[in-house]
Amino acid sequence: MADHIIEVKDLVKTYKVGEIVTPVLKGINMHVKRGEWIAIMGRSGAGKSTLMYQMSLLDDPTSGEVIINGRKTHTLLDKEKVRMRLYTFGYVFQDYALMPELTAIENIVLPLLMEKKSTAHAYKLAADALDKVGLGHRLHNLPSQLSGGEQQRVSIARAIAETPAILFADEPTANLDRESSRQIMDIFSDLHKEGQTIIMVTHEAEYGDLAGRIIVLDDGQIVEKGEGKRHK
Ligand SMILES: Nc1ncnc2c1ncn2[C@@H]1O[C@H](COP(=O)(O)OP(=O)(O)O)[C@@H](O)[C@H]1O
Ligand SMILES: [Mg+2]
Repeated sequence: MADHIIEVKDLVKTYKVGEIVTPVLKGINMHVKRGEWIAIMGRSGAGKSTLMYQMSLLDDPTSGEVIINGRKTHTLLDKEKVRMRLYTFGYVFQDYALMPELTAIENIVLPLLMEKKSTAHAYKLAADALDKVGLGHRLHNLPSQLSGGEQQRVSIARAIAETPAILFADEPTANLDRESSRQIMDIFSDLHKEGQTIIMVTHEAEYGDLAGRIIVLDDGQIVEKGEGKRHK
């Protein structure tokens, strides 16, 4: 297995809207080791989400390379990228992205059933994941019957139900109060201790410091690399 689970080489992303060309990532080089917890920091508009979208194959770069597990991803077929997004990555977004008409457990079961898992297996994985984020007693609540922090914990449970190789989280605490944010960070700490690779975007220094390595972006470039508390 490749030593680096992700390698990013000379990554450039330029958006074109009509005549207006916006260079957003201006040549990013970085790597992520297996089991690392990385915080990507920087002010609003720095390009953090854009970098995460390119690394997690939610978007295609203008040029440069994203190498996952030693595999160059720009030559992958679309269906191979879809498989990687489903089976290799877990995603957590700041707005939770839950289906409002489905209960907590159904939100996790649905994507598992789409992967052709048996119903019994899917419910088992989902219940275990909800238990892990401390929501074993909220399986049948709708998102509207959960607090913001609880909804985010459901979305984390969905992301980790199949133990993804990499967990991507874009500002997971942006909409949460302090106590809920701490709970989310405690879950990330536990996952990290179990060996989960985590790439987390945050603009809150307090949470970035919890990670093993901090990468600071400004104006589409890496301006600083540092070590967080979990550095080994
Ligand atoms: N789809 C898009 N089309 C055009 N410009 C975009 C698009 N997505 C992001 N941008 C621009 O790219 C810049 C970086 O955005 P983003 O990566 O979301 O920053 P951050 O997550 O650090 O706040 C911003 O100036 C934003 O307006
Ligand atoms: Mg962002």
